[in-house]
Amino acid sequence: MVYSYDFRSDTITKPTPEMLNAILVSEVGDDVYQEDPTVNKLESFIAQLTGKESALFMVSSTMSNQVGLRSHLISPPHSVICDDRAHIHRYEAGGLALISQATTYSIKPSNGVYLTAKDIESALIPEGDVHSSPTKVIELENTLGGAILPLSEMEKIKDLSDINGLKIHLDGARLWNVSVATKTPILEYCKYVDSVNLCLSKGLGSPIGAVLAGSREYINKARHYRKLLGGGWRQAGLLAAAAFVAIDTVWPKMEFDHRRAKRLRDGLAEMGISTALPVDTNIVMAKVGDVKLNVSLLGTECAKLGLLIRSVQSDVVRFVIHHQLDDQAIELLLQAFRTTIELQNSKVNTKATVY
Ligand SMILES: Cc1ncc(COP(=O)(O)O)c(C=O)c1O
Repeated sequence: MVYSYDFRSDTITKPTPEMLNAILVSEVGDDVYQEDPTVNKLESFIAQLTGKESALFMVSSTMSNQVGLRSHLISPPHSVICDDRAHIHRYEAGGLALISQATTYSIKPSNGVYLTAKDIESALIPEGDVHSSPTKVIELENTLGGAILPLSEMEKIKDLSDINGLKIHLDGARLWNVSVATKTPILEYCKYVDSVNLCLSKGLGSPIGAVLAGSREYINKARHYRKLLGGGWRQAGLLAAAAFVAIDTVWPKMEFDHRRAKRLRDGLAEMGISTALPVDTNIVMAKVGDVKLNVSLLGTECAKLGLLIRSVQSDVVRFVIHHQLDDQAIELLLQAFRTTIELQNSKVNTKATVY
C-alpha cells in the first residue's frame, strides 16, 4: 500500500530537498571536542532564541528531557511533579527511575486541559517527610496534546517554584507551535523555566535532533550526562545544517498546519465528533466515541484514499498535522470519516430490516 498522507505524527516527515542539500554542503567537525562549527552555531542560536546562557544539541527529545532532568536531580530521594499525560511520565521508557533514580508524582489537571499552579501546589512533597521523596523539579509540557499552557499560568507556576526552591523543566518539543499560535516569542515562555527542550524533528520537520537549553553550568553538566548515555556524537553538523533549513523554511509556515487542524476540527464537528482538547495548534484529539466510530473501518476507508492513520480502536484518536499534509489531505480525511459513518449507519439499517 502506498500512502500519500500520514496523520499519525509530526515526527514522520521526510527531509526536504533543501535539507538534504544543506546536509551535503555542511561544514562539520568533531562535536565531542566541540569543534563542529554548524553544531556550535545551532547551539548559540537556540541559546539566544530561548534567552538561556547555553544549549546542547541532542539526539532526540527523549534524551533531551532525560538528560535535562538528570542534570537538575542531584541527590535522591527526589521526585518530579508533572502532568499525568506528560511524555516524560508515560512514554520515556521509565527513564526517570533508571537514569535519575526519581519518582514522578503525576497530576490530572483540574481544568481537564493544562496544569495550574494550584494543582501543583496541592501535590508538592515537602522536605522532611521520610515516607516520601521530596519534589525537586516541576516538569511542564507545552503543548500537551496540541493544547497550550498559557504564559500567565507559567508565570504563576514559576512564582510557586521560586517560593519552594524548585527547578522547572519545560518539555517544549512543540514550543515552536505555541510561539506561532500565540504570536509570542519563544523567549517569553522560557523566562519562566530553568531548562527547556525544543524538538527539531516534530512540526519543524528536521530529520533528527532536539536541543536542551539552560544556564552554562547546567549545560556543562548535561554535556557530561549526554556523553555517558552515548549521545556524544561526532560530525553532527550534518543534522544541525538540516535543522537550520527547518527553522528558516518550515517554521514560518507552521500557521498553515494550525489552520488545517482547525478545518479538520470543524469538519468533524459537523459530523457530531467533538475534540478531547482544544485545537490550539497542530493536534486534533478526535472523540470518535461520540458517534461510536469503528476506528479500524475508518483505517480501511483512509487507506483506500492513501491516508495513514492510527487505526487502533479507541474513543479518542489523535491526528497530527504537519508541513507534508495539504488542504486536500484534510478534505480526504473528512471524506473517509463521512464514508465510515455512512457504512456504519447502513449496517445498522440493514440489521433493522432483517430483525
Ligand atoms: C511532547 C513530547 N516530548 C518528547 C517526545 C520525545 O521525542 P523523541 O521521539 O524525539 O524522543 C515526544 C515524542 O513524540 C513528545 O511528543
